[in-house]
Amino acid sequence: MSNRSHRNAGHIGMNRLRKQGLLHSSVRAAVPLLTGRTSHVAAVADCLATLRRIPAGSIQLVICDPPYNINVAVWDDLDHYVDWAGQWMAEVERVLSPAGNFVLFGGLQYQGEAGSGDLLSLMSWMRRHSSMRLANLIIWNYPNGMSAQRFFANRHEEIAWFARTPKYYFDLDAVRTRLEPERLAAYKRDKRLNPDNLDKGINPTNVWRIPRLNGNAKERVGHPTQKPKALIARIVRALSYPGSTVLDFFAGSGVTTRVAIETGRHSISTDADETFLTYVGRQLEQIGHREDYVLIEDQHWLDHPVLRAGADPDK
Ligand SMILES: C[S@@+](CC[C@H](N)C(=O)[O-])C[C@H]1O[C@@H](n2cnc3c(N)ncnc32)[C@H](O)[C@@H]1O
Repeated sequence: MSNRSHRNAGHIGMNRLRKQGLLHSSVRAAVPLLTGRTSHVAAVADCLATLRRIPAGSIQLVICDPPYNINVAVWDDLDHYVDWAGQWMAEVERVLSPAGNFVLFGGLQYQGEAGSGDLLSLMSWMRRHSSMRLANLIIWNYPNGMSAQRFFANRHEEIAWFARTPKYYFDLDAVRTRLEPERLAAYKRDKRLNPDNLDKGINPTNVWRIPRLNGNAKERVGHPTQKPKALIARIVRALSYPGSTVLDFFAGSGVTTRVAIETGRHSISTDADETFLTYVGRQLEQIGHREDYVLIEDQHWLDHPVLRAGADPDK
């Protein structure tokens, strides 16, 4: 079967520009850091309170791993789930820059649970109420998980990536999968494939095999649903650029803060649970001493001059 992506108008346009040595308008250079440091807000706040403080068009990437009403913890029990989620999804569209991206974690297996919150219901809301377009549905496939007797043991979760406009930012080169020498030589014999791209590595596809964190994983800081650093890092590297701002308003374990520091992005991470600040402290201990970032725990974080200086110039 032919690869339909070769007939995709966007794909053809990008190739035409590349051959002319031109860049697509969505390509962004890294924003120089005025202070030489990135800034990272870590605060305890309700998701809507956080979003309503953020200026329109100022965020490059929203990472959103919401509670799904499945009683995994005290924070996971909400009435009128989709109405509530609709409020923060509308705010996400407002705060994103035109090149911005929104990634929404979830699963499709919770539809029978109280409150009916699952990724399918949120994606359906997005389709009906938002102008943002689904760019990819990523399958996060993990080798480790619960066993099952009455159905196939689940080994994946979905991540829906929505682009704010057709000029969304995407850096494939930042996340290509390197080929081992033997495979590289075999691929290079296929004349349809671009040898320069093969040297850089191949597209990791929309199926990502990354283990879930085991209970005793070194990266664990104590949050029950902490996502692996490798997973968040792939999203941050591909969908934001150095010096841009990443927002996570269900920040949980603080892994987004950690990844933003390690990849040179600014970040705003908030969570309604006060333990969040303890988790962030543990993340910073794991990172160890470095002088290229500032942590902002001040309640007036939006007024912080460093954060403003680092805000996305496209807003
Ligand atoms: C699924 S967890 C996020 C885990 C996170 N992605 C990580 O990898 O550590 C959802 C988080 O949402 C937070 N939360 C629940 N309701 C909230 C609300 N109304 N506002 C802000 N945070 C909330 C919970 O405290 C919880 O930490």
